Amino acid sequence: MAVEQTLSIIKPDGVQKNLIGEIISRFEKAGLEVIAARMMHLTIEEAQGFYAVHKERPFYGDLVSYMTSGPVMVQVLSGDGAISKNREIMGATNPADAAAGTIRADFADSIEENIVHGSDASETAAVEIDFFFGDGVCPRTR
Ligand code: CMP
Repeated sequence: MAVEQTLSIIKPDGVQKNLIGEIISRFEKAGLEVIAARMMHLTIEEAQGFYAVHKERPFYGDLVSYMTSGPVMVQVLSGDGAISKNREIMGATNPADAAAGTIRADFADSIEENIVHGSDASETAAVEIDFFFGDGVCPRTR
């Protein structure tokens, strides 16, 4: 499987529940490496821009409010098949559908507040990584 990069966000509910270490630990135990990370409080414009693809969806306004309600951790994960591996570890968008042992099954309260975000394909991963880490990531040298 090819080495990929994917964007991961620990959303405001994940940060509030003090799950940053728990979540990153799950990624690392699955062989993914963090090659960029930043804690930040998104502005309304940033949240609108990041989720522009959803702007016609009925949940868009609530999504922007939620994503700006507290700080988030944005990070780039790298590894073999990182995009699908991250999505497997996160579980389905709706925690009610998420497989047992996934982050969303274990910690998410609802489809709206679902703890984490992960890129869904290589094209979106490239756009999403550039959105937050346009200045570059920090590849591992050891
Ligand atoms: P995420 O994977 O970040 O992509 C879009 C986000 O919108 C999703 O996680 C949820 O936080 C939120 N959302 C709210 N309602 C829905 C819905 N009905 N379907 C998909 N995503 C939703």
